[in-house]
Order: sequence, then C-alpha cells, then structure tokens
Amino acid sequence: MWLKSRRLQKLTGGGCLERWGIGLVSSVQLLALSSHKEDGVPQLIRRIRRRRRSLVTAFEAYMVYSLARAQRARPGAMAEVGVYEGSTARMICEIKGDVPLHLFDTFSGLPESSRPDRGVHRQKQFACSVESVRAYLEGFPNVHFHQGLFPQSAQNVSDDRFSFVHFDVDLYESTLSCLEYFYPRMIAGGIMLSHDYSILAGVKQAFTEFLADKPEEVIELPTTQCMIVKL
Ligand SMILES: C[S@@+](CC[C@H](N)C(=O)[O-])C[C@H]1O[C@@H](n2cnc3c(N)ncnc32)[C@H](O)[C@@H]1O
Repeated sequence: MWLKSRRLQKLTGGGCLERWGIGLVSSVQLLALSSHKEDGVPQLIRRIRRRRRSLVTAFEAYMVYSLARAQRARPGAMAEVGVYEGSTARMICEIKGDVPLHLFDTFSGLPESSRPDRGVHRQKQFACSVESVRAYLEGFPNVHFHQGLFPQSAQNVSDDRFSFVHFDVDLYESTLSCLEYFYPRMIAGGIMLSHDYSILAGVKQAFTEFLADKPEEVIELPTTQCMIVKL
C-alpha cells in the first residue's frame, strides 16, 4: 500500500533510488532462486543484471523467462513493448528458440505521460540506443526491432498471432495501446504479462478500463506484475 503514495512513486519512478532498491531486492531474490530453481537460470539473471541496467527484480525477470518457456511451443510469435537496455528481452531470447520476437520501443525514452500517470515519470526517461540493444541481442535468431512510438511502430509487423507478450511501458496510454493491439491478436491460452501493475496507477487504470467488458480476469502476481490469459 505504501508505494501508492504519489510522492513515493515519484521518488522511486526510475531514479537512482529505484535502481538501488531493485538491485538490493534482487540480490536476496537471487539467493532464494539459487536454492530451489533449475541451475543456470539464476546465474543467467545475475549475468544480465551485471551487463545491462535493468528495471525489473530477479523474481520479475524469472517470471518473464518462465512464461516464455511455457509458451514457446505454442503457435504464434512473441513480443515485448518497452525494451530499454534489453534485459527482459534477453531473458526471452535465451529461451524462445526460433520463435519470432518483436521488440518495440522508441529507444529515445518514455513518451509524454497523461493525467492517470500522476507525474511519476519524465518524458524521454529510459533512453537507450537501438544499436546498443541490437548488439546485445546479436546472434539470437528471428528478433525484429520496431523503433518508434507504439502502436504506430507496429504497422509493418507481419505476424498476427501471439503466444506471449510482455509490456513494460510505465504509462497509462502506452499500456492501453498494448492491450488494444495485442488482445485481439493473442491465441487462445496466450499470455499478456505486464510490469508495474501494482505500483503504477496509470498501468493499473489501463487494465481496469480495458478489461471492464472482457471475460478475462487480471491475475495479480506477488511481484509488481500482472497477467491475462486470453480465453
Ligand atoms: C521501464 S523501461 C523498460 C525496461 C525493460 N523492460 C528492462 O528490461 O529493464 C520502459 C520503456 O518503455 C518505452 N515506451 C513506453 N511507452 C512507449 C510507447 N508508446 N512506444 C514505444 N516505447 C515506449 C520507453 O522508451 C522505455 O524504454
């Protein structure tokens, strides 16, 4: 509940304090993961965190990996909106095999926020050059970059069925665009996972509004994430 205060959200909204906090929490989570999860995955998360600035905790990175693993044999492509330096995209790349992965980002940081976002983030926050992310993901097959504002940047995407999509866009308008674009394109049993649902008011509002006339229920995870399984 305490993270719902606007001032605290602002303080933690992507600044040093947030990154420091995520780093600290992740160290503890990595110890827990190492004690009972398959060898190699906690080490992978640790390696990625050392190479790239990451805005997800170790548990959240694990969820991205685990859901991509569960969905990789299903028909359809995968996608991520909100790539930044590529840490969660890398988790998907490591497990997806040949499945097409579409990566969407302005690569010049966050677009303008709107009222439901309550001024938590700054415009252009989280910029990272697309070349740097391309280099980081080099060697993984079937990875497609779509630079620009989503959903306009999706105009030339040839895949129209998706088994797993990951949203990490921080803002109300962007989250709503993700839901509007991907929901009709998900296969039955397809999974939409979003970061920040329980800590960013704009993200939660987008889900609440979008799902109001849909049969699916939001599934809240013990992390800040939520997911929807398409019926
Ligand atoms: C918090 S960062 C993503 C963090 C990343 N998933 C990681 O592993 O650390 C949010 C990203 O969303 C992108 N973004 C937000 N709204 C967008 C939109 N409408 N179109 C394209 N990119 C957007 C920003 O440029 C930014 O890179």
